[in-house]
Amino acid sequence: MVPVLEAIAVAKRFGAVTAAEGINVRIGAGERVGLIGSNGAGKTTFVNMITGYLKPDEGRISVAGEDVTRLDPRQIAARGVARSFQIPQLFGELSVLDNVLVAQACGERRFGILRAARDALAVERADELLRRFRLQDQRRRRVAELPGGVRKLLDIAMALTASPKLLLLDEPTSAVAADEKFPMMDTIMAALGEDATTPVLFVEHDMDIVMRHATRVIAFYSGRIIADGEPAAALAADEVRRYVTGELATE
Ligand SMILES: Nc1ncnc2c1ncn2[C@@H]1O[C@H](COP(=O)(O)OP(=O)(O)O)[C@@H](O)[C@H]1O
Ligand SMILES: [Mg+2]
Repeated sequence: MVPVLEAIAVAKRFGAVTAAEGINVRIGAGERVGLIGSNGAGKTTFVNMITGYLKPDEGRISVAGEDVTRLDPRQIAARGVARSFQIPQLFGELSVLDNVLVAQACGERRFGILRAARDALAVERADELLRRFRLQDQRRRRVAELPGGVRKLLDIAMALTASPKLLLLDEPTSAVAADEKFPMMDTIMAALGEDATTPVLFVEHDMDIVMRHATRVIAFYSGRIIADGEPAAALAADEVRRYVTGELATE
């Protein structure tokens, strides 16, 4: 079967820094891939190359069999690749509901016409999405007033308005307090459950969350993949214990 995502021999350098080298990844329907690695390992660079925000120096990236390596972010989004950012990209002056309505309208290429976007069907669809993310009680709140965790959830909900083929989440729980990370990721994954065939690649530092939600783990170190496989096996690999979880001393 054609994988949803295929990266072949992808490399990216920033001057002397190797942010990616020899990256080979195939991701298929339904996978929940936890992307792990210490700061600077190359996780965001990989997400940015898949979504077109960075161009690889070498290699090829395909989505559902189509080469997207040279396409720009908008073209790649139009081919069904959705993402959240480490810092949510929202309209702070608009309400939660209006943010979702704008995301829906943009997906339908009805740019900037908020009044048209507020028709009853659109609002119904937006409310259904907000319910899935447990945001229905906040729908009239102005986004700028909301805590980081709620903004993260909203950002991900907005990414889903496009019914993506592939969803990329860069540190979805990074802006929230430690005791909110678990329930937040549970909410995200439960909301995604209704799009169960859409594979999800999520960057996460908390290994308990990775073990709870990933069906597969890919570990990066210094721009290279040092483990890729079943979560427990990947986390038990010596290089992962040395360079990611810090369970083994570095040499
Ligand atoms: N735009 C950029 N310009 C220069 N160096 C960059 C840029 N983006 C990332 N890097 C470098 O590439 C390496 C990988 O970064 P990044 O992908 O952000 O890591 P991670 O997301 O795993 O923390 C780091 O050494 C980082 O400093
Ligand atoms: Mg990062």
